[in-house]
Amino acid sequence: MDCIRQFGVVLVIAVLSGARAEELQIDPLIYEEQLLWIGGGAGQVSTYRIPLLTFTTRGSLLAFSEARKMSSGDIGAKFIALRRSTDKGAIWSPTSFIVDDGALEDGLNLGSVVVDEETGAVILIYSLCFHRYHCDPSSTMMVQSLDDGFTWSAPRNLSVELGVKSFAPGPGFGIQKRYAPNVGRLVVCGHGSIAGDGVFCILSDDHGKSWRYGAALKSIPYNQPKQDLDFDPDECQPVELEDGSIVINVRNQNNYHCRCRIIVRSLDGGETLPVEELVFDKTLIDPAVAAGALQKQGVMYFTNPSSTQHRVNLTLRWSFSDGKSWEKEAVQIWAGPSGYSSMTSLKGDSPEDSKYIYVIYEKGHKNYWETISFVKIHLYGGK
Ligand SMILES: *[C@@H]1O[C@H](CO)[C@@H](O)[C@H](O)[C@H]1NC(C)=O
Ligand SMILES: *[C@@H]1O[C@H](CO)[C@@H](O)[C@H](O)[C@H]1NC(C)=O
Repeated sequence: MDCIRQFGVVLVIAVLSGARAEELQIDPLIYEEQLLWIGGGAGQVSTYRIPLLTFTTRGSLLAFSEARKMSSGDIGAKFIALRRSTDKGAIWSPTSFIVDDGALEDGLNLGSVVVDEETGAVILIYSLCFHRYHCDPSSTMMVQSLDDGFTWSAPRNLSVELGVKSFAPGPGFGIQKRYAPNVGRLVVCGHGSIAGDGVFCILSDDHGKSWRYGAALKSIPYNQPKQDLDFDPDECQPVELEDGSIVINVRNQNNYHCRCRIIVRSLDGGETLPVEELVFDKTLIDPAVAAGALQKQGVMYFTNPSSTQHRVNLTLRWSFSDGKSWEKEAVQIWAGPSGYSSMTSLKGDSPEDSKYIYVIYEKGHKNYWETISFVKIHLYGGK
């Protein structure tokens, strides 16, 4: 009986909406893969990490990463590296360094990229002195491009408005609200330093001219040293659902409750993250890492190294129920060492735009931080 009833529901949905019909055939195929950055000391850079990926409103793909000058560590001097593609990922520009923090002992950390669909601005938010290692205070910084990623503004210090709390955006993308409430709002979520950790979102209702703090989901015990199994929500990726709520997929730093992802939802445009909306997603096992999430045409996608212990086995999952349950057929993108990942796609509804999602991730043979790889995924098995 249940089978018949479910089949009926599926048929009705398929008839009502063309996009839903295609969901039924999702069969992700790795269509193209390219290494965008290879570490190891060439060109003043020791290690590339923390990849971000976005489309501009004109359809260019922008890939960003931290180019760590001296070592693979999180602390230290860095550039922000950028490569650009105008043909959806086939050919990429040479690397340009769009921000240089000089020789700071606790330099810049990426970061969150958000595209304003109304103005076309590409906004990149990052932190300086996040760890307060031989420096003080921490600053939240922003650069923007108004010409499709060719040129970038001088860095602007958002801490003048936001204050100097350590705030590490993303890593991943920020969103611009497409559905009520708060259509047009920019929402960038990130996390605090270990004692003052938790998920925090900053909001702009004027296309990035001014910013303020919105929602917070604080760690417990807050502002105190943490121990294993404490509640410590950390790096995160927000996505907007069609009902206008914002779902944030969060790194569970100290493995509170499970070795899996924390999911929390804002119903008021990023002003609050109520505990009633918090769940642990036991299907999304995780070694405590920054993961990728994407909502595209009613389907939610998720990438992470699917393992409770190690950063290996980068896996793509998808859900037809906004992440309440996940399809069984996950696709392995890379079996070996793999770390942070992020996703993007074109927002249009044309058949060509509907076919692909794009993943960027840390990939290696011995260590996950050896290279940064770009993958174009055909959602319908190449058909
Ligand atoms: C940013 O602004 C804050 C607050 O005014 C200040 O304390 C901090 O030094 C500034 N950071 C930089 C890099 O200029
Ligand atoms: C990789 O992840 C998939 C999905 O969670 C899982 O089925 C598989 O066992 C994993 N492989 C390894 C080697 O951990």
